[in-house]
Amino acid sequence: MSEVAERWGSRRAFIMAMTGAAVGLGNIWRFPYMTGENGGAAFLMLYVMFVLILGLPVMMAEIAVGRAGRRTPMQALSHLAVNNQRSPHWRWIGLMGAVTVFFILSFYSVVSGWSLEYLFDSVTGRFAGQSGAVIGQSFEGFLADPFRIIFNHTVFMLMTMTVVAAGIGGGLEKLNNVLMPLLYIVLFVLVGYGATTSGFQDALAWLFTPNLSVITTSVVLNAMGHAFFTLAIGACALMAYGAYMPEHQSLPKAVLTVAVLDILVALLSGIAIFSVVFSQGMDPASGPGLMFVTLPIAFADLPGGSLWLGAFFLLLAMATWTSSINLAEPMVAMVKSDRMSRSQAAMLVGGGVWLVGLPSALSFSTLKSWYLWGDGNFFDVVTTVPTDIFLPLGGALIAVFAVWVMDRDEVFKALGGSNALCQTWLWLTRWVSIPLVVVVLMAPLIKSWLT
Ligand code: PHE
Repeated sequence: MSEVAERWGSRRAFIMAMTGAAVGLGNIWRFPYMTGENGGAAFLMLYVMFVLILGLPVMMAEIAVGRAGRRTPMQALSHLAVNNQRSPHWRWIGLMGAVTVFFILSFYSVVSGWSLEYLFDSVTGRFAGQSGAVIGQSFEGFLADPFRIIFNHTVFMLMTMTVVAAGIGGGLEKLNNVLMPLLYIVLFVLVGYGATTSGFQDALAWLFTPNLSVITTSVVLNAMGHAFFTLAIGACALMAYGAYMPEHQSLPKAVLTVAVLDILVALLSGIAIFSVVFSQGMDPASGPGLMFVTLPIAFADLPGGSLWLGAFFLLLAMATWTSSINLAEPMVAMVKSDRMSRSQAAMLVGGGVWLVGLPSALSFSTLKSWYLWGDGNFFDVVTTVPTDIFLPLGGALIAVFAVWVMDRDEVFKALGGSNALCQTWLWLTRWVSIPLVVVVLMAPLIKSWLT
């Protein structure tokens, strides 16, 4: 298939599209509860380190492959491989990515559905003036209600697939350009509120004073997986966006901007959420419900709280919407063919993801004790294995492809930075990023063999 002709309208548009894919549940929902479950500051420190030494080089590699190939991920990989006299089998990295995002999207849609429910609840003033205990119980009650959970999961999946089917992702990005800054404003307000609570100092200490003794192989693995998840890399999803990157744009600069914006959202929501956790005497390791319990408590206390809370969930819904479109797009692009239109492909993929989302939706009620792995039920497994194992694995393979399969000039041209920068990237990717992924992925295995 020939090259795509479309380009993002401007450099800013490309950065905004990437930020749209990167900023989502990963920053606002997943980051705080993972930090809570993995010992606080030490996890944060590892996560930031992984973003910088692994995330940035791999993200550059992934987008550079898309930019040089200018095709959908699998086609770009096989086209570039064949041009460099290598096997077209490299394209299977694209398939692995599609399977990974399939599972990620299945739970992503369920959790985004939770925020749709909370959007509705907050504008109707349900949390206003309620105590922490009542808010906590009402979340438990909601999770245990299969009908409401599945209803919201269905609505979110329909929202995502309607946009993907119509191929109007670009329109939504534009809307998001306007909304993103608002999300930062609401987060700053929340942090401002956090600063007035008694838990603020504890929150800062919890987030920024690392206790290195909590670091285990699984904490390191979780931090690495989270770095890939939050940057939206390792599944060829950003590769698809790279294909539309304008000719004259420096990739390193764009990628650095996205990473900084992404870390900032995580930090702001972390500070806001943990201030509430500590001022309410909650357990930081309360799991996936952390954000849904703490933020309504914070807002219930603020003047005009229902409105702020509504605004927050609306912006969160927008942020998750753009991320889920990015998750769905590569699958739909792959399934679409001469005989299957874009909308049919979107229906097929959407239906499949919706079905696989059902056991996640029921993991807090009917299927709570259906243990797939140790004491992990379906939701626990699907929120960790694809993210912690398959995103880093995919990312490492993409990096191997960029540094060892592609022609040097070809990659450097696609990176579009100065020669010194490209050389640094090459060195870092080869000798630090790729070996580090291998070591972190192998460590738990080796440990379990030894014990
Ligand atoms: N980065 C997104 C988030 O933080 C999730 C995502 C993962 C999107 C992988 C695309 C690919 O919510």
